[in-house]
Parts: sequence; C-alpha cells; structure tokens
Amino acid sequence: MAGPLHGPGRPAGPRVPLTEQQRDALSGPSFAVPTAADMHALGRRIAGVLRAGDLLVLTGPLGAGKTALVQGIGAGLQVRGTVVSPTFVIARVHRGPLPLVHVDAYRLGSLDEVDDLDLDVDTADAVTAVEWGAGLVEQLADARLEIAIARAEDSEQRTVRLFPHGADWAGRAARIAQLG
Ligand SMILES: Nc1ncnc2c1ncn2[C@@H]1O[C@H](COP(=O)(O)OP(=O)(O)O)[C@@H](O)[C@H]1O
Ligand SMILES: [Mg+2]
Repeated sequence: MAGPLHGPGRPAGPRVPLTEQQRDALSGPSFAVPTAADMHALGRRIAGVLRAGDLLVLTGPLGAGKTALVQGIGAGLQVRGTVVSPTFVIARVHRGPLPLVHVDAYRLGSLDEVDDLDLDVDTADAVTAVEWGAGLVEQLADARLEIAIARAEDSEQRTVRLFPHGADWAGRAARIAQLG
C-alpha cells in the first residue's frame, strides 16, 4: 500500500538529537496560544490547508494540548464524532469529507505500524494526526508537518511551533500563519 507513512527507507544508524540551534534553524512559524479555545481555533486554521495523504506529528509533554489541537483540526475538517484522547485505542478513524485518523503513538513502536492496524480507511485518503512523544520524530523520514507544543511554567499559555519536513509543508506552514 502506498500511503504517506511509507516514505523512502529510513537512514541507518543511531540518531543524535539536534541541538537547540539546529532545531531553531528548521523551525517554521510559531504561535502564542493563551487558552484552550485559542488552541481549538489554531486547529481549525491548520485544517484549512490540509488534504488527503497528509501526516501531522504532534509533540509535547502530557497535557500540552495535543489532543485539544486535534479537536480543532477535526472541527475544521467537519469530521464525525468527538475527537478524544486515543489512550485506550491506538487509533480512531473519524469519517468526513476528508477523514481524520487520530493515532496515539506513545503505544506504537514505529509509524509503520499505523498501516498494519487494519484501519477501515487508507491513510492516503485521510489526514493522519499522530500524538507522539518528543524526541522520537527525528527518526521519521516521511514528509510531514511536525507541530511542537510547549507549556509555559507560570501560565496556561502554550507555544506552538510548526516544523515543516519535505513536500510543500514549508509553504503551507507559512499559509497557516497568514490565515491568522
Ligand atoms: N492554552 C492552552 N492550550 C491547550 N490546552 C490548554 C490550554 N490551557 C489549558 N489547556 C488545557 O490543557 C489540557 C490539554 O490536554 P490534552 O489536549 O489532552 O493534552 P495532550 O494531548 O498533549 O496530553 C486540556 O484540559 C485543556 O483544556
Ligand atoms: Mg493527548
């Protein structure tokens, strides 16, 4: 099956984590997100640039707001069903004009396993949003938009940074910023 999760083979060998500076150089736009409602609105904005076959990888600690953002994306895509934390299942499919596959990758060994889950939708025909632990994404070869969410120490504010990887993600990340 030729889905978005089957990119070219991953380079061999252990991965060294990027330094802060190297990571900054890869960063696309970032957003200050004061409230959960603002996170939902940002999700709806992101939904405006999505199309079939897209892979979104959300990173950030537990409680960062990854699921909150996917809820906004689901609202923007007008999919059916409530987007909830996929903690007790590995993946949930939400039907709609453009279906949404919502995956909890904390429970997966690798993204390739998503295509082995026997979902009743092909990821080439859907948007796949994966909640992922920080650090692991550097192993991915696939074209994707990484969405990194950081929490403030002293407020509810979150900072969302977009990291475009491959395909036309840099241009689409810029469009998300312009939509604001
Ligand atoms: N600025 C904000 N952005 C996103 N979520 C926020 C914000 N402020 C408070 N919250 C709350 O933080 C929680 C985030 O939880 P969740 O989205 O499940 O995180 P994760 O999926 O990253 O573990 C929610 O209860 C949400 O209402
Ligand atoms: Mg979550």
